[in-house]
Formats: sequence, C-alpha cells, structure tokens
Amino acid sequence: MPPAIMAEGLVKKYGDVIALDGMDLSVPEGTVFGLLGPNGAGKTTTVRILTTLLKPDAGRATVAGFDVVADAHRLRARIGASGQYAAVDDHLAGAENLEMVGRLYHLGAKRSRRRARELLKRFDLTGAADRPVQGYSGGMRRRLDLAGALVSDPPVLFLDEPTTGLDPRARASLWDVIAELVAGGTTVLLTTQYLEEADRLAETIAVVDHGHVIALGTADELKDQVGGDRTEVTVTSATVALALRTPEVFNNLATIVSMPLVFLSNAFVDSARLPGPLKVVAEWNPVSTIIQTARELFGNTASAMPVRGTWPLQHAVAASLLWSALLLIVFVPLATRLYKRAVSQ
Ligand SMILES: Nc1ncnc2c1ncn2[C@@H]1O[C@H](COP(=O)(O)OP(=O)(O)OP(=O)(O)O)[C@@H](O)[C@H]1O
Ligand SMILES: [Mg+2]
Repeated sequence: MPPAIMAEGLVKKYGDVIALDGMDLSVPEGTVFGLLGPNGAGKTTTVRILTTLLKPDAGRATVAGFDVVADAHRLRARIGASGQYAAVDDHLAGAENLEMVGRLYHLGAKRSRRRARELLKRFDLTGAADRPVQGYSGGMRRRLDLAGALVSDPPVLFLDEPTTGLDPRARASLWDVIAELVAGGTTVLLTTQYLEEADRLAETIAVVDHGHVIALGTADELKDQVGGDRTEVTVTSATVALALRTPEVFNNLATIVSMPLVFLSNAFVDSARLPGPLKVVAEWNPVSTIIQTARELFGNTASAMPVRGTWPLQHAVAASLLWSALLLIVFVPLATRLYKRAVSQ
C-alpha cells in the first residue's frame, strides 16, 4: 500500500532563512505520525506545504496519492487541517462556523447542520454552540478549530500543535478523538513540542530540527538512541564539542593540537635524554602527563618515570586532575551559555 503521506527532499526558503532543508517523510495509511521539534524547526512549514497552502522551492510530496502542487485542488477535498492558530470567524456562532465549513465541503445544508451538532458535542461545545465566537476562550476556539478540521470526515488529517492552549481535560478528550479516528482508518499527522504527547499518540515520531528529520522511530526506539549516544561520549568531549558548536570542529582542532604535542612528548623518548628546550616542553606537555598517568596506573613506579620533578603539575595524577578541572571550568560555562541561547531562540 502506498504511504498516505510522502515527502521527498522538501526545501523551503524565506529570504535568507532556510525553513526546510531536505525534509523526507513517509506515513503509512491509518497511522498517527508525530513531527516533534523545537520552535522554528520547520513543523508548520511542512504542514503548510502538505496541505497545499505553500509551494515548496524543491522536492516533492504526495498526500492520499495526490501531488501537493500539481493536484492541489483535488487534494484539498480529501484533507482536514487545524493550524497552529485557530482560524475561526469571530462574528459567527460556533455552530455557524462549522456549518459554513460543511457548506464549503459541499455537504449540503442538512448534513452540515447535523455534522456541526455532532462535533460540537464531541468537543464539549454544545453549551456555547449559538454564541458568537468572539466571546470564546482561547481553548474553546482551539476546540472549535479542531472540530472544523473533522467536518468533512477526511481520510488524512493534519493537526499543528493540536493541544497547545487546551486544559488537561480537553487535551485528554482530544487524545481520545484521535485514537477513535485512527481506529476508523484515518491517517493523522500531528506536530508537537512534547515527547510525552508524541509518545502517547504517535506510532512513529520524526524528530525535526533545522528543517530536516534528525531521528525517526517509535518513542521507545528514540529513547534508546538518545541513551546509546550518551554512553558513547565522554562528558569532557561532549561539553567541548557543544561549546565549539559541532563535533567536527572539535575533531579537527583536536588533531591539529594533539599531533605536535604527541611528537614533543615523552611518548617515544625518555625526556631526561632530550636536549634542554625540548626537555622542558616534554615535561610540561599534557600528552606526557597522560602517558605518565597511564604508566603509573599500569604499575610503573613514579621514580622510573621520564617526567619527574618537584612541581605539583609534574606529578602525573595531580596534573591530570588539574587539566580536567581546567577544561571543565573553561568549557562548561561556554557550553551552558550556548545551550541556553539555542533553547531560547
Ligand atoms: N512567513 C515567514 N517568513 C519568514 N520566515 C518564516 C516564515 N514562516 C516561517 N519562517 C521561518 O522558518 C523557520 C521554520 O518555521 P516554522 O514555523 O515552520 O517552525 P515550527 O517548527 O512550526 O516552529 P514553532 O514550534 O515555533 O511553531 C523559522 O526559522 C521561521 O522563522
Ligand atoms: Mg509551528
């Protein structure tokens, strides 16, 4: 069975801002797919392209078998969408809003009215059905907008941050509505900033950042991946890498710095036998300290060490601890600051 939603290499730029940078998605029919990502990751842009509201600069996408650009008109009749911000008419009553959506989908007056009443009940809005929407609270508007997305009973549904602004009860009842829809065969793509919500609702989750998918899997698989990564990196290299923004930069810098240090250390020659200036470099060299620490840990006595002196820094174990402390003092505040800045963006 072809996927209900498929996207390949979607790119979208707003001036200099690259909102989507090679977004790929594949959502099997009758499943809930979660797009999880921080502010500005490209979730809304993806939804807008898939719901034909925006054209991609590159790449292609199909929904329910229709190309989102070439078949946009026919596709619109087969999808329902609820945007990040409720799109409801303030001057109409709640029921009138839903009836209008029904008429736009050519449901006919009677069916539109019946559908509106059904959905108002489902979203706990029956009491406010005949009040103008301008008097609704934020959560009520949100629920009305979600109801609007369901009017035509679409086979594919897009919900952009559907539970933002909902109280816990409304949130739980929306989760139930989504579960019912999927049991009936509807495909749902929803965006969220909460792993908990994606975990609760979505069978497959795509973690999105900087306009493309950086991880894909079930909630459990994603948690395992994160756990695995954590065990593979040391605290120091992770903080240094974070401070320098990318692991690649850290790797390159580390090679440039460490190669000369290795050749000027006591790794190959006893530093006591080196000529004066080189002996000083070898004795103060952090690589010498690391090598000496390793030798000491493997049972070589300190007196047999090529690096020996009266300075505390020339004592291998003390020096190793001091170097580690120095690295952490320099890089932890830097990393923390960069992390905070990234999070607040
Ligand atoms: N109309 C626009 N004009 C200029 N830049 C835009 C526009 N819409 C989105 N962007 C930029 O594109 C990037 C992705 O935005 P998008 O709205 O898709 O993110 P998002 O994942 O939905 O974020 P949020 O969680 O805050 O809703 C952001 O950097 C944003 O500033
Ligand atoms: Mg958004």
